Amino acid sequence: MSQACVALIAVTGVAVAMGSMAFAAQANNQAPVSPIYGVTLPQGYREWTVIAPAQEAAPLDELRVVVGNAVAVKAYRDGTLPFPDGAVLVKLAWKRVPSSEFAPASIPGAATTVQVMVKDSHRYASTGGWGFGRFINGTPADEAQHRTCHACHQSAVKDHDLVFTRYAP
Ligand code: HEC
Repeated sequence: MSQACVALIAVTGVAVAMGSMAFAAQANNQAPVSPIYGVTLPQGYREWTVIAPAQEAAPLDELRVVVGNAVAVKAYRDGTLPFPDGAVLVKLAWKRVPSSEFAPASIPGAATTVQVMVKDSHRYASTGGWGFGRFINGTPADEAQHRTCHACHQSAVKDHDLVFTRYAP
């Protein structure tokens, strides 16, 4: 075997070893989890189907979009309530700013929060089957904030499986 060939095999070996280290780091679950619920930001949520937009008035003054994974979208389309296990809803939010190109239009400014609801009727039996996560720049918000989620959703939309957003056709 030529020297170059041996070197190539050695380099490939190192690359494979580094690759599996990266995989091990992910498998060790380095993804940040929310307090109380242990919810993570789901992979690929930015590509999910839009359920509906929303807007909140001042002082927050935000534009929002709620998206769902395939399980959630199917439940919406079929009118299935409660949502089945595996349904995940994500709410993205941004500051509302007037467009500099066309004043009457509002556009997203800085991202504020990304919020997650994960349906798992066993794991989250004590909170209506939903686990909650609020992330700011990818970092979970504190425990005190997570204590508010279930109470508001439960008191306002208990007849809609704790979910506010309806599918916008
Ligand atoms: C005071 C009430 C209130 C609290 C507290 C609250 N939410 Fe919500 N949430 C809403 C409303 C209203 C909507 C509907 C969309 C909108 O208006 O932004 C919503 C929508 C959502 C959605 C999209 C699915 C749906 O129900 O429409 C997610 C995900 C979500 N909230 C997560 C959270 C998380 C996580 C927390 C806690 C960190 C939280 N919420 C706390 C009122 C609340």
